[in-house]
Amino acid sequence: NKGKYEHYMQKEIHEQPESLTTTMRGRLKRGGSTKAKTVLLGGLKDHIKSIRRSRRIVFIGCGTSYNAALAARPIIEELSGVPVTMEIASDLVDRQGPIYREDTAVFVSQSGETADTLLALEYALENGALCVGITNTVGSAIARNTHCGIHINAGCEIGVASTKAYTSQIVVMAMLALAIGDDAISSQARREAIIDGLFDLPNKVREVLKLDQEMKELAKLLIAEQSLLVFGRGYNFATALEGALKVKEVSLMHSEGMLAGEMKHGPLALVDENLPIIVIATRDACFSKQQSVIQQLHARKGRLIVVCSKGDVAAVCPGGSSSCRVIEVPQVEDCLQPVVNIIPLQLLAYHLTVLRGYNVDQPRNLAKSVTTQ
Ligand code: M6R
Repeated sequence: NKGKYEHYMQKEIHEQPESLTTTMRGRLKRGGSTKAKTVLLGGLKDHIKSIRRSRRIVFIGCGTSYNAALAARPIIEELSGVPVTMEIASDLVDRQGPIYREDTAVFVSQSGETADTLLALEYALENGALCVGITNTVGSAIARNTHCGIHINAGCEIGVASTKAYTSQIVVMAMLALAIGDDAISSQARREAIIDGLFDLPNKVREVLKLDQEMKELAKLLIAEQSLLVFGRGYNFATALEGALKVKEVSLMHSEGMLAGEMKHGPLALVDENLPIIVIATRDACFSKQQSVIQQLHARKGRLIVVCSKGDVAAVCPGGSSSCRVIEVPQVEDCLQPVVNIIPLQLLAYHLTVLRGYNVDQPRNLAKSVTTQ
């Protein structure tokens, strides 16, 4: 049932304040004046110690689920101190890449039925790794065949393009980082800031959804473009990949997400006054590097669209707001910023598709659940 919405993708984008609330329900404890704020992940309780002690955490997934894990990777590394590596499921299986008994392999999948991810799970089980599932589908093959796991609880997702599952996956993995991270005094303030940030996230998402009309206007400007680049780094490298994936899969416009740090190693050659480029430049430790990327793109007359933190227009537009288009988003704790930042890009992909006259819920050649190799 689409309710007041025209399409499932639109409904699922706008549902995110509620889906995120459901994902966190019963799992975060505020703590009293004397008690610390904590995270409880029932499905992992017997395995937390083994995960903490593992030699490595390997995230395995495809498409959007892979991107969600990429967004969460830095906070898991920071809070747990355990090295984290990333594997696209099909590539791990193709290479028969190394997976060891001392590894924790985390399988991320909305459907829990993706063939490539399931094959990678079989492979990791054969190699003796501790296998954890993060899925949105209770009773799915990945939920059943892993040793333990966390349900995303984002609610049923019908649009082929994954939207609310993505943001809920990031939140689940941020909670995983808190659960496996040690509670050393030195990290206490950081942990509490993240927990407070999680509690407030649905409000911030409600706020960023107000950009809907602005993104429709931007889509009108981009409707006839051949291509769109998205540059991000740090926490928001994943936002660049995921934003570009959304645009290409539904609006059928060529789009590539790129690591901004790689710009000078090739992509810079593409820059001219015609190609639209989205740069994610919200406040975090990489902000000054993104400012310099914007300057370099500006110097080559790049057609810039910058996603920045509220109030930062002057800091991100070298020639003032006439030189680039700016999308201002609320600032949240850095590791949660990808949840906020993806939303204008989801809205952009949605409006571009509708304006271009394509099927937004059922893009050509794609299936919601890819159960064949
Ligand atoms: O169900 P899964 O999360 O395992 O699916 C993985 C991908 O097929 C999926 O995320 C795909 O990339 C989406 N259509 C992207 O919107």
